[in-house]
Amino acid sequence: SASDPTLVERARVAKEALGERLFVLGHHYQRDEVIQFADVTGDSFKLARDAAGRPAAEFIVFCGVHFMAESADILTAPEQKVILPDLAAGCSMADMARLAQVEDAWDALVDAGVAQDVVPVTYMNSSADIKAFCGRNGGVVCTSSNADAALEWAFAQKPDAPGGGKVLFFPDQHLGRNTAVLKMGLSLDDCVVWDPRQPNGGLSVEQLRDARMILWRGHCSVHGRFSADVIDELRAKDPDISILVHPECTHDVVLKADLVGSTEFIIKTIEAAPAGSSWAIGTELNLVKRLSQDHPDLSISFLDRNVCYCSTMNRIDLPHLVWALESLVDGVVVNQIEVDPDTERDAKVALERMLSLPG
Ligand code: 13P
Ligand code: SF4
Repeated sequence: SASDPTLVERARVAKEALGERLFVLGHHYQRDEVIQFADVTGDSFKLARDAAGRPAAEFIVFCGVHFMAESADILTAPEQKVILPDLAAGCSMADMARLAQVEDAWDALVDAGVAQDVVPVTYMNSSADIKAFCGRNGGVVCTSSNADAALEWAFAQKPDAPGGGKVLFFPDQHLGRNTAVLKMGLSLDDCVVWDPRQPNGGLSVEQLRDARMILWRGHCSVHGRFSADVIDELRAKDPDISILVHPECTHDVVLKADLVGSTEFIIKTIEAAPAGSSWAIGTELNLVKRLSQDHPDLSISFLDRNVCYCSTMNRIDLPHLVWALESLVDGVVVNQIEVDPDTERDAKVALERMLSLPG
């Protein structure tokens, strides 16, 4: 459908008809056929900020996944409508933490006598009710571009806690571990993994008392696939290659990489790269392919032997976008994402704490 001139033209006509009433946000992992119609592109953090800063538009069409559209709904005015062109565009990582499971973990921390020393930090990639849990319990949301500032803020909330306080971090264990160890100077021994499928998370009361970082057992199915072996192979073939990866990759991969950061950081790094330099990038394939096309003066490869799209990001395709836009032109709002008012109120507290973090 990328090259379907009829659909491209229909999207263009519908967008023009809606004019200022419409604002289209596109995450960097979206397909080319969709991203060409985005008014702004960004990583999760930038898109949340851009949604919050767009008071004029009546319709916000979010080309990304469900948790991003929920966050946009929370941060926009009540009369603005957020639309996700395909409701099946979820996130397998976000699904790895459900509210009831997070509440069970919190109860275990209460039983262990440490809950008063713990700040919950949720990755943006989580449902609105989990963000609301953080808002109610003195916690914060973070994205891959501000996880270090969020952890710093969280530990600063507990200056008097024995050992310097604790963070319960969900759902991505890798972002939590990578940030704690590489940015906060904690050690791997300070980290334990809470497995929501096991009684008491598979941890003893003593482990809960000793840990500084309690990491949820969740991961991204896309970034979890990159392996340190491939980095070794690439370096053996090309000693000058630079390895650039997203912090959702495993700790082994991040330790072997040259540079680590959010999708926005990855783009800025490539834009500043000297002509002729060679790069292997460990993030979603739509973005890597686009970077490679946009920078023919660089040698850019994908850090995996196989192709690796995010299947749920890819659900937003041109036919779904055209359907959503043409429905709006006809006065029909399809696929609206609406967070209930109580959840919205508490989730907004945690999201606004994130938006006011330094940096
Ligand atoms: P960022 O947008 O923060 O780089 O996160 C990547 C991601 O996996 C989004 O789902
Ligand atoms: Fe979720 Fe990973 Fe896809 Fe991002 S790339 S939406 S974290 S599965």
